[in-house]
Formats: sequence, C-alpha cells, structure tokens
Amino acid sequence: MVGLLDGLRAELPPDMFALLEEAADICHAKGWKLYIVGGRVRDLILRRPGLDIDLVIEGNALDLAKELAERHSAGLTAHQRFKTASIQFNNYSLDVVTARSESYTSPGALPEVVPGSLEDDLKRRDFSINAMAVSLNRSDFGTLIDPSGGRLDMEKGLIRILHPQSFSDDATRIFRAIRYEQRFGFNIEPKTLACLIEHKKYLATITPERLRYEFECIFREAFPEKALKRAGDLSVLSQVNDSFTFGCRESNWFKQARDICQPETPSFSLYLALTCSSFNQTEIQKLAARLSLTAGDFQILHEGNLLNSRLGLLDCAGLRASALYRLLSNYDQVAITACMITNSKPAVKKNLGYYLKTLQYIKPELDGHEVKLLGVPHGPRVGEVLQIVHDAKLDGLVKTRQDETSLVRNLISKNS
Ligand code: CTP
Repeated sequence: MVGLLDGLRAELPPDMFALLEEAADICHAKGWKLYIVGGRVRDLILRRPGLDIDLVIEGNALDLAKELAERHSAGLTAHQRFKTASIQFNNYSLDVVTARSESYTSPGALPEVVPGSLEDDLKRRDFSINAMAVSLNRSDFGTLIDPSGGRLDMEKGLIRILHPQSFSDDATRIFRAIRYEQRFGFNIEPKTLACLIEHKKYLATITPERLRYEFECIFREAFPEKALKRAGDLSVLSQVNDSFTFGCRESNWFKQARDICQPETPSFSLYLALTCSSFNQTEIQKLAARLSLTAGDFQILHEGNLLNSRLGLLDCAGLRASALYRLLSNYDQVAITACMITNSKPAVKKNLGYYLKTLQYIKPELDGHEVKLLGVPHGPRVGEVLQIVHDAKLDGLVKTRQDETSLVRNLISKNS
C-alpha cells in the first residue's frame, strides 16, 4: 500500500510531504502513532488531487502541532476541548486531531469527546468511504487501515453509514451523503437510504449556522444542481423549508449561471437566489432565519423578489438606456443576474443583460467639482446637472469630455 503514499508524494508540494515525514519522526520519537484520515485517503484511492490533509494521532495532537508550528514559524490554532489543532503554513494548512471516541447525548447536539484509539476515531465517522486511514508510521508506513470496508464500498460505488443512528446523531450527514453520492456518481446504499429517509426529520435539530454551511458546501461542488435535485427528490429540501423544491428548471438555471460567471464560479448568493426565485417575501424571511443568512445575502433575495415583480416594465424593445439604468441601478448585481436567468421573456432578458454588461459601467467623465468650475452654483442643481449629463451619456447623446462640457455650458446658458 506504499503506492497510496507514492501517489501523495507525487501530487503534494515537496515541502508538504517532507512535513508529514517530519511529523511522523516527531511521533516516532515520542512513541505516538500518526495517520492520514478521512477525505484525503478517499481521494487518494480515487486519484483525485487535493491539499487538505487531516491527521489523526494516537498521542497528543496539541503537542505535535505546537512543535511543528514552532519549528517552521507557522500559525497555530488549537482547540483544547476537542484536542484538535490547525497549523497554517504559507500555502496550505494541516489539521491534527487526537484520536477520539464520540457519543451523542441527543440528536443534533455536539458530541461528547473522549480520547480513544485510531479504530474508535474511524468508527465515529460518517461513511465507510471517509472512515479509512493511511499509516505514516515506520513499522507499517503506507498501510491502509479500513475497518469498515470503505475500499470495497468505493469499488462498488456505495455511500454507507457505519451505524443506524448516524443520521439522527448528526443530520448534517444527510446532506453529506447526497453530496458525495452525486459528486462521485455513487449510490447511497439501500439500508443507508432507508435510514436517511426515516431520519430526515432530524434536520430540524440542526442549528441554522450548520445548515447554512451544508448549503455552502453544496454550492461549492462542481455541479451543485445534482445534489439539490436529489435532495429535492428525497424530500430533504422540504425539511429545511416548505417551499423548497428543485427540479430540471432550476438545474438549467445553475448551468446558465456557470456560463455567465466564467471564468469565476457563481457565488453562494447567486445560487441561492436561483434556488428560491419563486419564494415570496415571507418565505424568504423564513429561509433567512433557518439558514442564518447574512444581511447581505438576505438583501439580495429580497431585491430579487422585488425586481421580479417589476420586470413587466422591461418587457419591451427600444427602452431608453437612461430609463433602463434608472429602473435597475438601485438593485444588487446578483439579484439582477438571477432575474435575468430565471425570466423567460426575451426582451426582459436582453434589457437586463444590456444593463449588466454595459450600462452599469457608463459614467460621466465630469464630476461635481468640475461642474461647479464650469459655473453651476453650489447646491442641488449640481446633482441635477450631473444626472442630465449621465443620462445623455447613457443615451449616446454625448460621447467625449468635450461633449459633456458643452452640454453643461448649454444648460447654464438656458438657465440664466
Ligand atoms: N466527518 C464526519 N461527520 C461529519 C463531518 C465530517 O464523520 N458530519 C468526518 C469524515 O470522516 C470526513 C472528515 O470528518 O472525511 C473531514 O470532514 P470534511 O473536511 O467535511 O470532509 P472531507 O472528507 O474532507 O470531504 P470534502 O471533500 O467534502 O471536503
């Protein structure tokens, strides 16, 4: 199994692999054991690259992290209660946890944690494919430790929980199961699926912040629509909010959003605005509370809803550019983009696209100071004149700074 670590050596920056070896040497000297665990092991087997490495130590994670951070003058974040630490190097970070066993006092609560063995630590995890480790110890360097049959499940393409209470203990795993299933093109194993359906009601026990994090993770996927469609089909989304559905129409909008945003990827707020474009204001408020949305994200959903109700005004060709600008300039760009994607009327789409691509960036060259130097008296008239110049520029009536200056002079002479 050294092959797995050879794969890791080949893909990691050399200094990062050297760091893992150094960590293993420190552990060896102290009689501790060190393992790579979780998603990185899964991705090594799947040959998917990544720099996120989680280490489990049978020993003291905090001491190891402190020593590594001191030796390399790296940043250190330590959590005494959970005996976990994160070391920040220039281009990557390493998470180290002390092997532990967990128990849940009630659904949705954070687990009680006690030190344990590597096996205990693997058993507390979500799915068999995430419950494997690779040894970094001299005695069995590169050996895969796979007590739950994760490797076989990967061959079969299955997402399988390790015990029947897994989803009720931690209902965020419902979204995680769906996310991995859709990311890897796997299937949720039948008994796991039955548990998921039986326990989806426990999503009610998840705090808004944790729930929002699950949506953030979904929206970071390459094709989030796959997971959302599946969550919609399994009636998991409706556990979060009664109005939540997701079908082919929304999937199509997500694809359009990616095309529009290239080379960037769509933001959390754009995907969210597309997901709940048919919500009314009350439903938006409920969702904002359930996901503890930031004021900014809530505002985007709110404005998207308002704009949607006014789009009839844009359903015509030949609208003056300055009128279009006036209608749209107070709305957030993300809200406008969402409306452009979700609206089916060609004239509306065209007008919104024209504003987003061109009009919003057209500004007059003259500013208030220059307008005053030309002779406009200090006071509200300055703003009015600037507005007229801006409109003229939007409508193509003035092009150059010289044109703008002439327009201002004309306005002054008409007024005097
Ligand atoms: N884990 C868990 N239950 C959770 C969250 C995480 O058991 N609710 C465990 C899994 O073993 C997982 C590991 O913690 O592999 C790390 O979690 P995370 O970083 O969220 O996932 P990754 O496996 O790294 O996967 P991803 O590629 O989605 O980041």
